[in-house]
Amino acid sequence: MTLAAETQSIVKQFEYTDDDVNKGVKEFLRQMDEGLQKDGTSLSQIPTYVTGVPNGTEKGLYMAVDLGGTNFRVCSVKLNGDGTFNITSDKVAVPKALMVAKTAEELFAFLALQVRRFLEKHHGDHFEAHIRRRMTVSSPEGYKDEHVFRMGFTFSFPVQQMGINKGTLIRWTKGFDIQDAVGKDVCALLQDEIDKLHLPVKVAALVNDTVGTLMAHSYGAPGSHGAVLGAIFGTGTNGAYVEKMANVKKPMVGEYDLSTGEMVINTEWGSFDNQLNVLPNTPWDVVLDKQSVNPGLQMYEKRVSGMFLGEILRLVILDLLKNPNISFLKDDNSSTNDLRSTTDIAENSSIFQQWGVDSAILSVAAGDHTPALSLLRKGLDDSLQIHAAAFEDAQAIKSVADAIGRRAARLAAVAIAAIVLQTGKLSDPARKDEPIDVGVDGSLVEHYPYFRAMIHEALSIVDGIGKEGADRIRIGLAEDGSGVGAALIALVAAGMEKNSAGSGEILGELRSTAKAQAAAAVDDEKATSD
Ligand code: GLC
Repeated sequence: MTLAAETQSIVKQFEYTDDDVNKGVKEFLRQMDEGLQKDGTSLSQIPTYVTGVPNGTEKGLYMAVDLGGTNFRVCSVKLNGDGTFNITSDKVAVPKALMVAKTAEELFAFLALQVRRFLEKHHGDHFEAHIRRRMTVSSPEGYKDEHVFRMGFTFSFPVQQMGINKGTLIRWTKGFDIQDAVGKDVCALLQDEIDKLHLPVKVAALVNDTVGTLMAHSYGAPGSHGAVLGAIFGTGTNGAYVEKMANVKKPMVGEYDLSTGEMVINTEWGSFDNQLNVLPNTPWDVVLDKQSVNPGLQMYEKRVSGMFLGEILRLVILDLLKNPNISFLKDDNSSTNDLRSTTDIAENSSIFQQWGVDSAILSVAAGDHTPALSLLRKGLDDSLQIHAAAFEDAQAIKSVADAIGRRAARLAAVAIAAIVLQTGKLSDPARKDEPIDVGVDGSLVEHYPYFRAMIHEALSIVDGIGKEGADRIRIGLAEDGSGVGAALIALVAAGMEKNSAGSGEILGELRSTAKAQAAAAVDDEKATSD
C-alpha cells in the first residue's frame, strides 16, 4: 500500500457524516433530558444556582480567580455599568507536581498565595489598610462590608453545586488528579487557605468557565436578549445554557431566586455519551482512552478538545511509523525526499511521549496553504524534532490532522445544535429573525483556522435548524469569561448575601481572626521583651 492510500483509509475512519451529526443531536437531546431528571447520568446537567444573565448595567469592583488547566489567573474587574469593564490580571503556571499533589491543601495554599501576591501588587493600598486595621486592637469593629473583596472562583472541573458558593468536586479532568480533594467543597478549601493568610477576600461564587463565558457574553453582547449558550473549546470542552426551571426535575438542595423561572445549567458535556451510543470510536480513540487517567470518562471531550487532538494525531503517526509497508518519515532515496536533506526523527522527539504533540500543530496544518507545506514542515521540525520531512510525509500528516480537526468541529456542532434546539429560541415568535447568541472561548475556537466555519456548516444540516436557522446562530468569541463572567456572578452572589446571614458571618469571622491575631501579636511582643 502506498502512503497516500493508507492515509486515505485513516482519514475515512475520522469521517463524521451529516447522518452521524443528526443521530448525535438526537442522542444529545435525550441525554440532556435524562440529566435533568436524575443525578449520576453521563451528561451531568448541574444546576448552578445562577438564575439570570446580566444585561450590561451591572457595576462595581470584584475579584476573580481561575483554575481550569495549565494556568492560575487572578484578576480584579471593575464593571462600569455600560457593558464595558476594566480588568487587571496576573497569571502563573500551576506547577505540574501540584496537579497531582497528595493533599488538596498543597494546591489550594498555592492558589491563596497567588491571591495575596496579586493584592500586594495591584491593590496595595486596600491591602495595607486591611493589615493596619487588623493589627490595631481597637479597630476590628471598623471592618465594613465594603472592605472585603467579593471573589468569583472559576473552577473548571465537574462540581456538584449546593449553592452559589458551595460545591463538591465530582472528579478531576484535564490531567489533574488529587484524590484528597474529591468530594470536598472547593470553595471552602480555597477560603480556608485565604483565611490562613488573613486576606480581605470572600469566595462569593463558584463558577464554571462555561457559566462565566455565558455571563460575560451576555454582559458585552449587543443584542436585547442574553446569550443562550456559553461554551469552551479549549484544553477541555463544555457548555452552560439557560434552562427553564420547570424542566429541572431532579431535587436541588440549595436556595435560589425563583422569580426568573430559569437557571443556568452546567452540562459537563465533556462526558456526553460515555457509553458510546453514538460517538465515533477509531482504534486511536480507544488507545488514547485506555492510556488516560480517566478511562471511560469524558469520552466526548477526548474527541473534541485541545488536550486530546494532538494525542490522537500522535497515535496515528506512531502507527504509520510502525507500518513496514509504507514509506513514511523515512529517507529511502532522493526520489521520496528533498535532494539535499535527510529525514530524521530525533531520538528524544516528543512524538514518542504521551501528550507530546501539542494540538497547536493541527492549527498549523489546517492553516498551511503553501505549495510545499513549508509551514507544517517547519512546525514538525521546531516542535517535534522531525527534521526535513518530505512533502509526502507532511501531506499525510496534514490530511490526518485535518480529518481529526473536522471531526472535532462537527462533534462540537452536535452539542451546540442540541442546546439551541432545547432552548426553543429558534422557533420563539418573540425572537423572530433575531440572532441567537452563542459565546465561545478557548484555544480551538480562537486559533484553529475555520473551526467556527466548520461548526456552522454542520449546523446547517441539522434537522430543525437548517440553513436559515444556522444563519441566525451567531457564534461569537466571548470576552474573558473567567474574569468578567466570574466577577458578574460574584456580584449576583453579593446581592443574594444581603438578604441572608452571609455578610454578617464573614465580618464576624474577620473580626474574631483580627482579635486573635492582635492578641497573638501582643503575646509575641511580650515573649521577645522577656
Ligand atoms: C472540562 C471540565 C469542565 C470545563 C471544561 C472546559 O470538561 O470538566 O468543567 O468547563 O473542561 O474548561
